[in-house]
Amino acid sequence: MVIEAIERYRTGNDLHKKVVTRTCSPNGGVCHNQSEYPDLRTPANFLATINAPCNVQPGDWTSVDDRCEQSGDRFIIAGQNVAEVEIGHVEYIAGDIGDYRAEDLVPEPGSPGFHVFLRDPLPIEREEVWGGGRFIRTFINDEGIIEDLPYATFTTRWWILDGGRHLVGEVRNYQIDQVNELNSVGIVQGDMNRNGIYGAREERPASLLTPGSPERSYLIGRMRGTMMGEPVAGSRMPLANQPLSIPEMLALFCFVEGLPADGSWPDMGAPINYAECSYSEDPENLNLLGEGVTWKGRVSKVLQANCGGCHGGNNPAEDLDLRSEDAYEHLFDASVQNPELQLIEPGAPERSYLWLKLINDESIEGYPMPYNPLTGEGSLREGELGDIQTWITNGAIRDE
Ligand code: HEC
Repeated sequence: MVIEAIERYRTGNDLHKKVVTRTCSPNGGVCHNQSEYPDLRTPANFLATINAPCNVQPGDWTSVDDRCEQSGDRFIIAGQNVAEVEIGHVEYIAGDIGDYRAEDLVPEPGSPGFHVFLRDPLPIEREEVWGGGRFIRTFINDEGIIEDLPYATFTTRWWILDGGRHLVGEVRNYQIDQVNELNSVGIVQGDMNRNGIYGAREERPASLLTPGSPERSYLIGRMRGTMMGEPVAGSRMPLANQPLSIPEMLALFCFVEGLPADGSWPDMGAPINYAECSYSEDPENLNLLGEGVTWKGRVSKVLQANCGGCHGGNNPAEDLDLRSEDAYEHLFDASVQNPELQLIEPGAPERSYLWLKLINDESIEGYPMPYNPLTGEGSLREGELGDIQTWITNGAIRDE
């Protein structure tokens, strides 16, 4: 394995050309439409991931990993004599409310408005206040001095819920543009994935590539599905392509382990130092197959919950029963709609018709699944998709 790696992936440039771009290219632009996947097309793009934060613009908050969370910006309402508080997450829920006060209504979780969830309560002992909600960030200026800068203000009526931990700003029609602008400036949220854990407080945030430490490199974590022994949220990379082989992983691990500790860029034309690489001892350990999600523990539950209503019971849609005891066996049958493909082809999501229905691939007949009769559209959450994909990639094994 080591010899194969040395021969095929001698330098950083070989690694980039033969491994990194492969994970992007065959499927026509996976790297482009996955907004959370950094651009890796050129060696310089690849090097720019050194010490760069991860999950900065996720497609979906459920896929953010705690280890990528940064310290959140802070929030305060001008004119209220209280200290600023770290933002956990924000959410704009569109919808016509008219005027909460005129209608004698109090917003609740899920009501239309601009919701700001805070780490600690903003101690305002009122039900509502009118004022400028300020979003504040700490910057380091050109002279190296740390400055607190209010970078955005949204002035409206704020309702104080949950003892000051949850604020809802009214958004009238004329304020919608302003709120969209606010969303687009990229408010840094300390608990982006909304699970109550503020990742940046637990430890230093992970970066895409961490010099000397493949285990703390989020890019590698996304390929393995685990990082430092724990699962990584979000779909497994490379999306819709073959996972990396052991020699490919070895090249990547040894390259990252050998990166200059000061964060400077290495010479991509220089040989990767396999001789001194700690992973050369036992490359088998880098095998990606067989890790991760199980049929019983995860995949069957997702399918039953989201598909069982139609694909179950006496007359399952398209004769596909995902609820019965022997659902697993029938996953390897040919698809009715495209008999050239099996519903699931172990190891190959891109040839698994059920998977193609889930991602609304352009080749499918009928509607994407889970079918929603009202809109004709359907989608599982990104985290669920990622797990199903990992499971297929790893051989669609039954774990009983
Ligand atoms: C509201 C009902 C409904 C739900 C929910 C639903 N389906 Fe379907 N499914 C259908 C219907 C109707 C068809 C046939 C028409 C079509 O494909 O658009 C179908 C077809 C399919 C097919 C094609 C079968 C073949 O052999 O070619 C697959 C695969 C499939 N569904 C998977 C799923 C999965 C997986 C889920 C859950 C994530 C799901 N469906 C949820 C109604 C549903």
